[in-house]
Amino acid sequence: MDVFRIEGPIRLSGQVVVNGSKNASLPIMAAALLAEGPSTLSGVPNLSDVRVFGDLLGQLGCRVERAANGDVRIDATKVDNPVGDYEIVRKMRASICILGPLLARCRRVEVSMPGGCAIGDRPINLHLRGLRQLGAEIHLKNGYVIAQTPAGGLQGASIFLGGSFGSTVLGTANVMMAATLAKGRTVIESAACEPEIADLARCLNRMGARISGIGSPRLVIEGVDRLQPVEYEVIPDRIEAGTFMAAAAITGGELHITNCRLDDMMAVVDKLREIGVTVEAAEDGCSVAGSERFRPADVTTQPYPGFPTDLQAQFMALLALADGNSVVIEKIFPDRFMHVAELNRMAADLRKEGPAVIVAGVKKLVAAPVMASDLRASAALVLAGMAAEGTTTVNRVYHIDRGYERIEERLNPLGAKIHREDAPAP
Ligand code: EPZ
Repeated sequence: MDVFRIEGPIRLSGQVVVNGSKNASLPIMAAALLAEGPSTLSGVPNLSDVRVFGDLLGQLGCRVERAANGDVRIDATKVDNPVGDYEIVRKMRASICILGPLLARCRRVEVSMPGGCAIGDRPINLHLRGLRQLGAEIHLKNGYVIAQTPAGGLQGASIFLGGSFGSTVLGTANVMMAATLAKGRTVIESAACEPEIADLARCLNRMGARISGIGSPRLVIEGVDRLQPVEYEVIPDRIEAGTFMAAAAITGGELHITNCRLDDMMAVVDKLREIGVTVEAAEDGCSVAGSERFRPADVTTQPYPGFPTDLQAQFMALLALADGNSVVIEKIFPDRFMHVAELNRMAADLRKEGPAVIVAGVKKLVAAPVMASDLRASAALVLAGMAAEGTTTVNRVYHIDRGYERIEERLNPLGAKIHREDAPAP
């Protein structure tokens, strides 16, 4: 298990290119199940989560390969084992997004329940409710979801997908993908509006689906008889882009960030500017310049277009160095605060109060050995390590590899001093 040794403080400067979106790639890879034949996806980042998902599709019967040019080819001609195995799903909860397309394709499927993770429970009640309203017969057995379509196949329906934390991103993906091959019209009210879901919908329409209302909370899907394999390029990763923006800010550096769509990041850019970070739009992305000190700001995570929960940890690290107190409220995953104790080990002054954390700004962070717990918390620890005085050791770096492609190889040329080492034997 690797560790990162991060020397600080450093100042980042230069240009960085944002990769394709992990959270668009995974459901779009699942969408390939809906068409018999080879689909080719470009811009898919080479991440451990993507590799695991490819292994899962392979277990279902697909042929999955990454071409020399980086494209991911998924041949779903043969999907003869419609079982999403626990051993894979437990490692990567996003695997649940095979459920909708697999059911629409194979009519009877078994997919392991995802189980919980460091950021909280990962219930799928909304996924199942939506698929049941399309006519699926679903029961749970030995930790698996067993789903079957009725004799006449799935039927379009009007479905409300809102839950107590807003909509569901992958629940919308599952129901929308299943609805593309249902008979008749499906309306999904309170659908997720995340850009990744809009990207999935555009890809499905490219495959022959008939989806309207893309990007809005009301999706209308006219069922069709079949979908065609597709060639498609996924959108840039707005969470990776936001992480690089926070990295420029926290190190007081300046980055030119390309392949990023500011229109998908208005809440993030607005918050950076409130904190006192300069963000200037450019032809192909933006330039971000940090400053010596930051203004405090309150952050509340919301469904899109609100401030994304996937950048909460990174911005908490940034606000830890602000001149004053900030309040961070997590409304999507209330337990998503595993990074708080670790940042406090680095001399941050953070106090959890229910679904909120009071961030009392400090003058500096101090290096310490810290433990990564989940993908975005580990990104926050890397940011803090680059700003802290001394050498920070981040343990369990595999968490960050799930969502960032060799992040040290992209940050070091910009001035970071991050060394990946094998962890000492326990
Ligand atoms: C997606 O997860 C993302 N993952 C997450 O990113 C992201 O944090 C999340 O959306 C919210 O934006 C991928 O796209 C692969 P949800 P998802 O269903 O779809 C509750 C990252 O770091 N809920 O939108 O699993 C749920 O508990 C990852 O890249 C139900 O109650 O999230 C949560 O509180 C982490 N019942 C809220 O809704 C359900 O049936 C939002 O969850 C489903 C969800």
